[in-house]
Amino acid sequence: MTNLRFEDKVAIITGSGSGIGAATARRLGGEGAKVVLNGRTRAKLEKIAGGMNPERTLIQVADIVVADDVDRMVTEAIRWFGRIDILVNNAGAGDTGGFLDLSIEQWRQTIDVNLNGTFNVTRRVLPQLIETKGCIVNVSSVSGLGGDYGFGFYDTAKGGLSNLTRSLAQEFGRKGVRVNAVNPSVTFTEMNKEAFERYPEIVVQFEDRIALGRGAQPEEVASVIAFLASSDASFVNGVNLPIDGGLSAATGQPRFA
Ligand SMILES: NC(=O)c1ccc[n+]([C@@H]2O[C@H](COP(=O)([O-])OP(=O)(O)OC[C@H]3O[C@@H](n4cnc5c(N)ncnc54)[C@H](OP(=O)(O)O)[C@@H]3O)[C@@H](O)[C@H]2O)c1
Repeated sequence: MTNLRFEDKVAIITGSGSGIGAATARRLGGEGAKVVLNGRTRAKLEKIAGGMNPERTLIQVADIVVADDVDRMVTEAIRWFGRIDILVNNAGAGDTGGFLDLSIEQWRQTIDVNLNGTFNVTRRVLPQLIETKGCIVNVSSVSGLGGDYGFGFYDTAKGGLSNLTRSLAQEFGRKGVRVNAVNPSVTFTEMNKEAFERYPEIVVQFEDRIALGRGAQPEEVASVIAFLASSDASFVNGVNLPIDGGLSAATGQPRFA
């Protein structure tokens, strides 16, 4: 018997035109959820929707940084599906480079998409989640749990997202809303495809540091997001859950043997 953990549930997944968001949309949709696909590029969303149940899938082209876009997306989601049970704040991006080398514009963009955009969607959706006793899963990063060399803007934004998760969990727990985050390490998606093709030695360095000896596939992150969004995690609230093959379990000291 197939276990439809999300039957009758409605999920908004930001940034679901590719990578982790797309895998999450497929996973939740495959387990019975009605899914709102979001991103700025219609063609990408249509491609993902093509593999999903059309009656249970709604495409919403919206830039989460633009409050009016977010308002329209959420209004449409409620109009189509009548409720919202799950919000996956997944849309995000970041540039690598020295703190003194990256531009102010890159700083603004990083804070915009990872924090201001997440703020816009969360503020708009939370009243619905209070009604449905729903939940939020934020897609932070291992970079939201510690510092990386040359990833300072992103670390700052994801660190904020990790702590927003903890704060919201405190404030909305008694209202029946759980708020958790996942913290993936390197996951093979559009975000890093070009860089890894250009600099394959970076992948080797990741493999060296991750105890499982490899990066993640988006589906391996999606399955943990699905767990946190499901009633299987009914007493899990306020966590930042590493999905990192053991990376953050290491002290960082050199190998002794
Ligand atoms: N890949 C990794 O190694 C890794 C590791 C840890 C955490 N993460 C996090 O995982 C999340 C998903 O990333 P990914 O790796 O799956 O990369 P991805 O394939 O590039 O997916 C990000 C998606 O977000 C959408 N997006 C970007 N800005 C947006 C905006 N302003 N409004 C709406 N949608 C927007 C993009 O589509 P459009 O450009 O069409 O809008 C894209 O489809 C991000 O938050 C990322 O920081 C990734």
